[in-house]
Amino acid sequence: MKTYAILNMKGGVGKTTTAINLSYLLAAEHGLNVLLIDADAQRNATRALIEAGDYPTLYEILTGSELVSYWMDATQPTDIERLDMVPASDLLWGLDADPTGKFWTVHRLKDFLAAAAEGQTYDVAVIDCPPNFGAATAAAIMASDGIIIPMLPDAYSAEGMADLTRQIEGVKSINPDVRVAGILINQVQRAGVVDDAAAYIRENAPCPVYKNVIRRTVKVIESTWAKEPVLIWSPRSAAAQDYRAWVRELVDTEVLLPADQGGAAPASGEVLQHA
Ligand SMILES: Nc1ncnc2c1ncn2[C@@H]1O[C@H](COP(=O)(O)OP(=O)(O)OP(=O)(O)O)[C@@H](O)[C@H]1O
Ligand SMILES: [Mg+2]
Repeated sequence: MKTYAILNMKGGVGKTTTAINLSYLLAAEHGLNVLLIDADAQRNATRALIEAGDYPTLYEILTGSELVSYWMDATQPTDIERLDMVPASDLLWGLDADPTGKFWTVHRLKDFLAAAAEGQTYDVAVIDCPPNFGAATAAAIMASDGIIIPMLPDAYSAEGMADLTRQIEGVKSINPDVRVAGILINQVQRAGVVDDAAAYIRENAPCPVYKNVIRRTVKVIESTWAKEPVLIWSPRSAAAQDYRAWVRELVDTEVLLPADQGGAAPASGEVLQHA
């Protein structure tokens, strides 16, 4: 089982949208068994995919609650075949208030996923991170093989490359083995200034940048109201097409499918460079 954290300390860059649509595509179109973990107290991914209920959440995993004595206690099915999720709780807000919290909680998601991996139920886990460096984010980084960074093609992101480098250093200090899989440029519009920003990000990023980008379309915003992946809400929209192309790129570069199921041949090098 491979685990990817969708991470960027900047808010509103498309982490949740990417986590939901990536999970959907891996499950529905690539036939993988996927576990989506909502690590954000805002609970946007949880609210999009499952009904409110009295179920254990990531909070119970991170606090070692006896409500989660077996890993399956904390997973919930969604309406999408092969896609389960670990919901978030608003109690996650309080984790960071406990000064010892980070220390105690940081290993627990990794241990939980190791137990799930033994059960061989899931091929991929995707973690939707909050826009801060709190205990849940630290636990997500600790549990991940790869980090995917959605980024807007604006001046703030371009000028924020030094911040991004520091963020990556922070990530590596938590988990030296984690790899920054790539930056995904999101909300691209047809405009010279956007092309310039995207080109700047490609030239100056301290990590690979995916060849495919996600265009901005109102269908994504509509899909949040419909509580559906944009792939279901508007499968032919620009963003749906782009997510499909990007996930194909990810599946190939990360070798998520065996070769006899259409996966790419294993890469010889550890670090994969995207154009
Ligand atoms: N390609 C797109 N086109 C249009 N709107 C988009 C696109 N991607 C995301 N959005 C919209 O941008 C807003 C922020 O997206 P999202 O919630 O995925 O970001 P986030 O990084 O998870 O935010 P937060 O940091 O608050 O968790 C949402 O309203 C979403 O619908
Ligand atoms: Mg979010």
